[in-house]
Amino acid sequence: MADILKLNAISPLADGIFANYNYSDKIEEPDGIMVRSAQMADYPVGKKLLAVARAGAGTNNIPVAAYTEKGIVVFNTPGANANAVKELVICELFLGGRKICEAVDWVKTLKGKGAEVGKLVEKGKGDFVGGEITGKTLGVIGLGAIGIAVANAAYALGMNVVGCDPYLSTANALLLNPAVKVAPALDDVYKACDYISVHVPLTPDTKGMFNGKTIAALKDGAVLINNSRGELADTQAVISALESGKLSRYITDFPADELIGVKNAICVPHLGASTPEAEDNCAVMAAKQLTDYIENGNVTNSVNYPAVSAPREGAARICIHHKNVANMIAQLTAAVSSFGLNIENMTDKSKGDYAYCLIDVNVAPAAELKEKLAAIDGVVRVRVII
Ligand code: MLT
Repeated sequence: MADILKLNAISPLADGIFANYNYSDKIEEPDGIMVRSAQMADYPVGKKLLAVARAGAGTNNIPVAAYTEKGIVVFNTPGANANAVKELVICELFLGGRKICEAVDWVKTLKGKGAEVGKLVEKGKGDFVGGEITGKTLGVIGLGAIGIAVANAAYALGMNVVGCDPYLSTANALLLNPAVKVAPALDDVYKACDYISVHVPLTPDTKGMFNGKTIAALKDGAVLINNSRGELADTQAVISALESGKLSRYITDFPADELIGVKNAICVPHLGASTPEAEDNCAVMAAKQLTDYIENGNVTNSVNYPAVSAPREGAARICIHHKNVANMIAQLTAAVSSFGLNIENMTDKSKGDYAYCLIDVNVAPAAELKEKLAAIDGVVRVRVII
């Protein structure tokens, strides 16, 4: 029975999927980990650890590169919380145009004015006039599951929508409303849009992508919405842009101390995926991906290893994480053949510098085959599933 550590509170809908596992927050040497936002940089990785499943989209709380080198698969759950985040973005589009937050705060100051409240409201409401989103242009940076949901919903609300994503997959492109324009370069989005909503992961390439230079390229008075990660924007550059009026609003799900209280900054306490529906969806998806990997070696929605899944054939499955280098497959198959085994099925795919291989064989291999495979230069990890 494999051991799964829960590093955060996870929806109880995952419990049934782990019915045949030791699944708790007390496991010391886990085979797998379920995590939401717990910071894993200092987590002491044991030898048994096969995989980490993040019930959410971002994986910046997990030291992915170090895990890749150890052959530990990191999963996320793309799309599972997309509807929840989309709904928050739609709310923020309205908050970007209308002065609802300020107006609601102002109404609180009328407490105790008794019968005067109605008159004061009519007199004061002129300070809170705001614009509609219909007919305005929204730029969506990043057209993954969330970006697509946002783009389609904003279009349905009457906005003109321009998207941009250098990594747009064919599958995602087909989900995009054809009326949404796809711009070839970010600059085309920056200069054209009244609203910008960013939906990209935090990576060394995207960190600080909204800085003094890129903000200067935006339309004057643009509304910038960031529900992805705070570090995508340079906070000081955002504050200067709010002060100068270059940005009319900055709305983020990732408050920074410097931003709190700044005029026209709206800070939401990371509520994008905080709905019971999204928490259930993420937990179920993460748990299914983790158990399929532990039981069958199949990899679906990993951020560090390629998607490799196949129905089981033969008596045993050999799972091999290896570096993406020449002559690897020939060496793997030669090693398997040297033990007299017949390969029933084999799939090998790469992702960047690493690759993953599934080999189904007709009989359960001797333990020495695992050692022989592991000794090949460039092989990172070998696991045999009977
Ligand atoms: C995500 O990465 O999925 C969202 O930011 C929500 C979360 O952190 O759970």
